[in-house]
Amino acid sequence: MKIGLITDLHISATEDLPLGIPVKENFCKVLKACLDFHPDMIVLNGDLCHKTGERSVYEWIKAEMDKTSIPYFGIPGNHDDARLMHEVFGWPLELGEMYYTFEKDGVRCIFMDSSKGKISDRQLSWLREELNKSSMTASCIFIHHPPVICNSRHMEPAYALENMDDVQELFRQFTDRKFLIFSGHYHMETSVSTGNMTVFVTPSTFFQIDPDTVVLKKLHDQIGFRIINPDSSQKCITSVHYIT
Ligand SMILES: [Fe+2]
Repeated sequence: MKIGLITDLHISATEDLPLGIPVKENFCKVLKACLDFHPDMIVLNGDLCHKTGERSVYEWIKAEMDKTSIPYFGIPGNHDDARLMHEVFGWPLELGEMYYTFEKDGVRCIFMDSSKGKISDRQLSWLREELNKSSMTASCIFIHHPPVICNSRHMEPAYALENMDDVQELFRQFTDRKFLIFSGHYHMETSVSTGNMTVFVTPSTFFQIDPDTVVLKKLHDQIGFRIINPDSSQKCITSVHYIT
């Protein structure tokens, strides 16, 4: 199975050029480049909207995605509205939170909702139950906020996942499993391994943030996406691709 991951679109209904950046054009360019890899499915990993969730933005993205004829799924970021996403895209919503799971080609895909900056107790309980139920050794977790420290000096002091310790502790309990965790949010490319978790952070289609400065600073003008090739034997090949 091959998954294309696109994150942090930051599309606005009122601003064509947030910070002077052509966000719709960027998304279309990235989507086209991603499709060249012939993914079996595409994941939109949060922050589809720029500041707050807007129905017309979701409808525009849906129209673009529907043209691809490829299955696609998504999760909300901190700038999204899970309820509106549910109404437009139809992705599952449980008491206001967008978390769900399915198995595809021997890989368990788990979609989590960190849009409130933390993972709720209800969602953690659900995740524990799902992992107990599933005999899959390989799992791909999609969560907007990275649940580990990634050394972004601008983002982490103010915008890190509040209860990342709880999330890590849960995954660590499954000692025979390996978790591949795919995040966005930090607008950078990195990967961090700890215990049975590897967290892959994917660059944005908006702009990348310099992780080495405390003040917000654009790193470069490239935009990117990720291709993920998981298999049922706990192996995963993944690569980030940039376009200008
Ligand atoms: Fe973002």
